[in-house]
Amino acid sequence: MTNPRLDLLTDYPFQRLAALLQGPPGAPPIVMSIGEPQHQPPAMVAGILAEQAAGWGKYPPMAGTPAFRAAVADWLTRRFHVPAGIVDADTQILPLAGTREGLFQIAHLLCDSTTGGKPPVVLLPNPFYQVYAGAALLAGAEPVFVPAGRQNGFLPDFTSLDPAILERTTLAYFCNPANPQGTVADLAFLEATVGLARRYGFTLAVDECYSEIYDGAEPAGVLTACARLGGGLDGVVIFHSLSKRSSAPGLRSGFVAGPAGLIKAFGRMRAYGGAAVPLPILAASTALWQDEAHVEANRALYRAKLDAAETIFGRRLGFYRPAGGFFLWLDVGDGEQAAARLWADAGVRVLPGAYLARADAHGDNPGASYIRVALVHDLETTRQALSRIADVLVAA
Ligand SMILES: Cc1ncc(COP(=O)(O)O)c(C=O)c1O
Repeated sequence: MTNPRLDLLTDYPFQRLAALLQGPPGAPPIVMSIGEPQHQPPAMVAGILAEQAAGWGKYPPMAGTPAFRAAVADWLTRRFHVPAGIVDADTQILPLAGTREGLFQIAHLLCDSTTGGKPPVVLLPNPFYQVYAGAALLAGAEPVFVPAGRQNGFLPDFTSLDPAILERTTLAYFCNPANPQGTVADLAFLEATVGLARRYGFTLAVDECYSEIYDGAEPAGVLTACARLGGGLDGVVIFHSLSKRSSAPGLRSGFVAGPAGLIKAFGRMRAYGGAAVPLPILAASTALWQDEAHVEANRALYRAKLDAAETIFGRRLGFYRPAGGFFLWLDVGDGEQAAARLWADAGVRVLPGAYLARADAHGDNPGASYIRVALVHDLETTRQALSRIADVLVAA
């Protein structure tokens, strides 16, 4: 007998996609459904892993190394223009084996479903990264999906929620820049959301794994909002990853930063069930957080692909250049039908937006009319795939 809460989860989007696209592709396949960067990871990674090979013979410390934590604290200070020391390297940072596991575990760290009465509430944007919902449900919390569709400017306005919900809230997930919409919240929005979390005593978990992939201005981060508000990182935990920033999803390397007490508790929990990041990977990650040249080059590749997309789509299919991240969020009328056609007619695999969102009380799914297209391939492959999409969907 498995945990009955598993039954509350819908199938993972990629399982649903496999069920939808069972037939053969209409052309040599191009997979744009998964946000897995196909750019080369920086060459320094392989060199450092080889140099540090002796580290594979050791159990790594869950807290990482002082050098890793210092590199992360320095990067946060530089990137988010905050005074040095606002994040203490030794007490406020934990390495993660990719942010996915940390985003999942934070719900288990914070939600106590055994206190009787109503379960705690976890807020999440709708559409959302699926791990948030899985974590909330399996932690015994009640997920409350906060609309982040077009009519909300693709941003979840937690401040508009009923105070009765906010009183029961333990944790709120917020993805900035947003996957899938590519929206970036400004500092005023971030400050208002942090203020709300502090007022109601819940933790705001800000998933900033796309913060380094941007088109124009660098996205604001919640750390800057905290610095402006004062009060350190009270009420806030921040997640960052090397998967997108450094095109190294297979490295499994990220971190969480937060208030010292919470990070200490997180470390205690992870001592029981977390995957510690291996020493050679910590060494490579340290070097990656210290280097911006490869990140700038990475951004340039994405910008070139956005230029190609703009040329191909113009204003059709509701195309807009996402301010952050590398997904197109195209308004195609019926996303599921469009995904099926793109596969069957053109061999392009994209994700129906409905699979990334939940229907609201009126049965409206804010992702239903969209497809998510991951611009993860090289420029030429991307151009080819986008042209095929335009041929199938625009001509229709
Ligand atoms: C919004 C969002 N958060 C977190 C992750 C997890 O990234 P990782 O575990 O590779 O750090 C992803 C990966 O696709 C993502 O899209």
